[in-house]
Amino acid sequence: MTVTRNEISNKSLAEFELKRARRICGVGEYLKQKILPTFVETNAKGICLEIGCGHGHWLTSYAKSDSQNIFVGIDLVSKRVRKADRKRELFDLDNLFFLKVEAGEFLQALPSDLPILKTFIMYPDPWPKKRHFKKRIIQSTFLKLLADKSYSNSSLFFKTDHEGYFDWTTQVLKDSPHWISGNHNWPHDASSFFSDLFKTSRICSAKNHK
Ligand SMILES: C[S@@+](CC[C@H](N)C(=O)[O-])C[C@H]1O[C@@H](n2cnc3c(N)ncnc32)[C@H](O)[C@@H]1O
Repeated sequence: MTVTRNEISNKSLAEFELKRARRICGVGEYLKQKILPTFVETNAKGICLEIGCGHGHWLTSYAKSDSQNIFVGIDLVSKRVRKADRKRELFDLDNLFFLKVEAGEFLQALPSDLPILKTFIMYPDPWPKKRHFKKRIIQSTFLKLLADKSYSNSSLFFKTDHEGYFDWTTQVLKDSPHWISGNHNWPHDASSFFSDLFKTSRICSAKNHK
């Protein structure tokens, strides 16, 4: 029996989708078993999410300063998440969780009884070349998914050292029917690994509009 090129690519696409669905399912289970019980016990309003938390410096500092809220940091790189988790252990923080997961998959896995209160994206990869703009995390589809998983009136905070990415983000936010841009105060002042590397940064913020 001969197998065509199309059949092979359909097969690998199906395998890719299956693996993705399994990962999302696994993250959903973790959220329900580990984070949801803490959320219910502490009567927290919602979760404060850092996308691309790196080594977790900033989020650990924030979670230490506010025991009333639940903080979740996610990153694609296992080593960074492990380092972040060591900080959580060091300070024995019950309100802080770090997970290795891609942002879109995390949002898809997030159950509706665990809404997002605040989202932070700090120094995301700028993908400066035009042909790579589609890889930037801030996209209209991403903002819609984030809005769907967030409380009405929840906040999104964005910080970058890259002028072009700042302009991109302010424009995508402006064009989004799900977010209203504003100048909201950055709620926690502490350094992150990348904030220590860059002298200047630009900040923008928005509120979810449902
Ligand atoms: C430039 S670092 C910034 C780290 C940290 N926010 C800081 O200020 O030090 C960007 C981080 O985002 C992570 N990242 C990139 N795309 C991601 C995605 N789609 N989902 C989750 N994390 C992502 C990268 O692995 C990296 O650790």
